[in-house]
Amino acid sequence: MSELSHLMQPISIKSMEVPNRLVMPPMGTGLAHRDGTVSKANLAYLERRAQGGAGLIITEITSVHPQGTAAPGTICAYDDSFIPGLVQMVEVVHARGGKIAMQLHHAGRESFYQLQKGQALGPSAVPSLVYGMKPNEMNEDDILAVVQAFGSAALRAKKAGFDAVELHAAHGYLLMQFLSAHANQRSDKYGGDLGQRARFIVECLREVRKQTGEDFPISIRISGEEMIKNGYSIEDMIHIVPQFVEAGADMLHVSFGTHGTPGGMTCAPVEYEPGFKIALARRIKDVVEVPVIGVGRFTDPVMINEAIARGDADMIAVGRQHLSDPDFLTNALNGKGEATLTCLACNQGCIERLAFEQKSVRCAINPETGQELIYPREKVPNQRRVWVIGGGPAGLTAASEAARLGHQVTLFEKGEQVGGQVLLAARAPYKEPYGRFIEQLAARATKHGAVIKTAQEITEADLDPQSLDMIIVASGGQNAKLDIPGAELPLVCDAWTLLKGETPVGQKVVVIGGGLIGMEAADYLYAHGAQEVMVIEAQPQSPVLKLTSHGYMLHKRMRQAGFRLATDTRLKEIESDGIIIEHDGNEERISLDQVVVAVGTQPIDNLKAAAEARGITCAVVGDAVATRRIIEAVEEGARAAWEIN
Ligand SMILES: Cc1cc2nc3c(=O)[nH]c(=O)nc-3n(C[C@H](O)[C@H](O)[C@H](O)COP(=O)(O)O)c2cc1C
Repeated sequence: MSELSHLMQPISIKSMEVPNRLVMPPMGTGLAHRDGTVSKANLAYLERRAQGGAGLIITEITSVHPQGTAAPGTICAYDDSFIPGLVQMVEVVHARGGKIAMQLHHAGRESFYQLQKGQALGPSAVPSLVYGMKPNEMNEDDILAVVQAFGSAALRAKKAGFDAVELHAAHGYLLMQFLSAHANQRSDKYGGDLGQRARFIVECLREVRKQTGEDFPISIRISGEEMIKNGYSIEDMIHIVPQFVEAGADMLHVSFGTHGTPGGMTCAPVEYEPGFKIALARRIKDVVEVPVIGVGRFTDPVMINEAIARGDADMIAVGRQHLSDPDFLTNALNGKGEATLTCLACNQGCIERLAFEQKSVRCAINPETGQELIYPREKVPNQRRVWVIGGGPAGLTAASEAARLGHQVTLFEKGEQVGGQVLLAARAPYKEPYGRFIEQLAARATKHGAVIKTAQEITEADLDPQSLDMIIVASGGQNAKLDIPGAELPLVCDAWTLLKGETPVGQKVVVIGGGLIGMEAADYLYAHGAQEVMVIEAQPQSPVLKLTSHGYMLHKRMRQAGFRLATDTRLKEIESDGIIIEHDGNEERISLDQVVVAVGTQPIDNLKAAAEARGITCAVVGDAVATRRIIEAVEEGARAAWEIN
């Protein structure tokens, strides 16, 4: 406990007494009803997070004006009819002892939904950084209407019982668009130098203060630096923030970047260390008297405590860790920190699912997140004898969930270690946390009572209906082989033997297959001394999207290392010291000393038919169905366990 004493110290902000310094920052969920009212799913999600014990929970973006709504399924507060649902959000958090602030939001030009309808507003008609479409330039009436909308939404929050509000002036949404020289090219009193460009935010703050009264706590979320070409810097920002305090801000919540910053920096990937942007909060703290919240990749309460003890920030916001395991604080306080599932910053289930798939929030490693309403919590009345075949993320999740629900579970892994392909992925640069994830998941399965047996392969002959009710086949995939001349030559290896360290790294290497494994193998090759790496991909574009944060980092590292990515290119033949490729009907010979094959896996499922023939129920999950990501493996493993009857 004493090692968390700074974190656990209460803090008062105006009328709000926050019991500790942990903040759950705003995170959009996409769980609201399409009309913007609060749903049962919102409340269940929020309740589960509130159980974790953060002193302050800030809601996801909440729309202050119909024209500023980011997308259907965003919570709204632009009309009194929304108040009853908002009251329920407050009750859920207060019942768990936390405080709750509403994040007031207007998307401005960064809403695809409004842009498509031709209704997006912006300070100037400058295209959105994310969607490339132009908003309508706001006139003074529009500005006045939005200023008032912020004020009246804040008042509704107060009426609904919220402890505070937060103006979202970060991440490239409307308030930040006014601050940005890129988005704001106005020549009236709302444009010009940074001081002038801050006027709109100042007016919104004043209106919120006017409508909510002197005692009501107001936070403002800013991006300490804009992180786009010619964007504003922290040096610029420290001159502006005192104006915000003067206009009514009682708290400064210091994030960074915009959704247009390359590589999705607002939700930084695994490449970035916990607290990598905390210096921004520190700089702001040096120029204001009010409390400052810092954020960015924090997961470990001990580290959070240290940041507060150092005076980097007064409070720390922890976003994605609240999705991967909302109990991380309680676990640490109870001396059970090892039970926590640490966020991988993979973004598969959270920000990238919301942004690129238009789906509601999940977590790649925590199947409960976003599914709180259907997540089974009670032990089952009928305990079944379940075998799980294979110890990758799908199998381990199935075993853990089935055992948690009270089934008798044995997991068989034919290898020496559990982890499946994740163990190998964990050997790529920066991905060591994936190895820790497997350890944490295995520990969790064991804690729930699953028995894990390694180096044990199950065959059809072992399937005995007298001793077994169900099998969950999570046996993964085996490496697909190349079917071309020369595929058996000694210079050819597969990505797995390379990543395992069983094959020495060549000097001049071609990787066949530009999917995630191929790109990570290339990354590994450079990190281990290869001089030249080329990646060949049959598809016209790299399957590793630069839009995703990890994909962006991978491409950037490879480009800096000088790699060549040949898309729309086919491998025709391998020779003893080179390969022949074909692109656009032209052949090219490339000399090299190593060929690394990363063309995916073929599902292994040789037990389903035999199990069913013996009357044993069977589910097939994860890569044993088809090669996919961790999120699909975990989701299918969990579902199979939840559906045992
Ligand atoms: C799924 C998701 C939704 C988010 N939505 C919001 C939002 O509504 N408002 C906001 O200010 N930030 C939003 N963020 C950013 C987070 O508040 C936070 O700044 C970010 O996740 C970095 O913190 P972390 O590294 O602790 O996750 C979102 C992040 C995620 C992962």
